[in-house]
Amino acid sequence: MRFVVIMAGGSGKRLWPLSRKDTPKQLLPLLGEQSLLRVAFERVRQAVPQEQVYVCTGAEWTDLVAAELPEIPTANILGEPVGRDSLNAVAWPAALLAEADPDAVVAMVTADHLIEPVDRFVAALTRAFEVAETQPDALVTFGVVPTKAHTGYGYLRRGEALPGTDDVYTTLEFKEKPDAATAQAYLASGEHFWNSGMFVWRARTLLDQLAVLQPDCHAIVTELARHPERLAELYPQLPRISVDYAVMEPVAAGRGTARVLMVRLPISWHDVGGYASLLEQLQRDSSGNATRGLSVQVDGSNNLVINDHDDHLVATIGVHDMIIVSTRTITLVCPLDQSERVKELVSAVTDND
Ligand code: GDD
Ligand code: MG
Repeated sequence: MRFVVIMAGGSGKRLWPLSRKDTPKQLLPLLGEQSLLRVAFERVRQAVPQEQVYVCTGAEWTDLVAAELPEIPTANILGEPVGRDSLNAVAWPAALLAEADPDAVVAMVTADHLIEPVDRFVAALTRAFEVAETQPDALVTFGVVPTKAHTGYGYLRRGEALPGTDDVYTTLEFKEKPDAATAQAYLASGEHFWNSGMFVWRARTLLDQLAVLQPDCHAIVTELARHPERLAELYPQLPRISVDYAVMEPVAAGRGTARVLMVRLPISWHDVGGYASLLEQLQRDSSGNATRGLSVQVDGSNNLVINDHDDHLVATIGVHDMIIVSTRTITLVCPLDQSERVKELVSAVTDND
């Protein structure tokens, strides 16, 4: 059977103070009226029945997720006692689903991306399911044509098209987060694609790779699938690593037993990871300012101003390239080109967060 697991982990530290411990990024309506999680759910329910949609998230957010997605059974909301990075957000659901259905084919999707148009995404997802079903040794990725030398993404080097297809490719390399010079060379090569961060595989195929590459993780998630009551005890023992480093890079390099295939994702795709990428996605005025809530700017340009109060005005004069976020308890002011550093602030004020 086909399943979709929406990964909704990580509180979104680079979007603090909009995102807080009790309001993680995925539950915020960052790009419109609906939360990122709801938008992601509306996308994937076009590819599988809603009972086959799961969410993997922090245990502290399962109630919020259940309220946000009342359509899915609460048993489908998997709460991690602690975050252990994306390897475990894919490994644990794979073990659970394989235990219930040895032929389970699982799509791991993210909620923190702006994806348009949705019908093309749904077509690519459906195609990836078909590929995983017909190619049991496949870990299927989605390749996005890169538009800049981004160092925060993974890159896939495309190989030959699979025989009889013109939309599914072998991959010659998977490189996670290259340095700037390498990313520049990849961009110029024309052979490299961004890894979208979403994957489709047979649950068993993923588990077989873990047995070879991440035996500790494999042993723990296998035990958890049989003994869910040991979750609080065992989950914290999982190694903290991303699926990209732990599985995708080594399998693409031939160190697993599977192979990495790539389906093209011909869409406009943006990671809504921090304020700079959020500003790029929002509607702007003629001076390049994007604003939400009450604000007035005199001689200001290229600013992102978000004001959460209805009885409070944010006013600026001569401010440029700045992020200003005012919530009930916190005001953030940060130059746009340093917005990635917001997570440093979160560490500095964890007592307040
Ligand atoms: N449930 C859960 N628990 N989900 C998690 C956890 C966790 O502990 N850690 C990460 N995730 C989820 C995030 O919510 C996100 O949807 C996804 O896994 C990827 O994690 P990120 O931390 O956002 O990874 P990244 O952006 O640095 O890199 C990944 O995504 C890029 C595309 O945005 C990689 O797959 C890159 O190769 C890719 O290009
Ligand atoms: Mg990300």
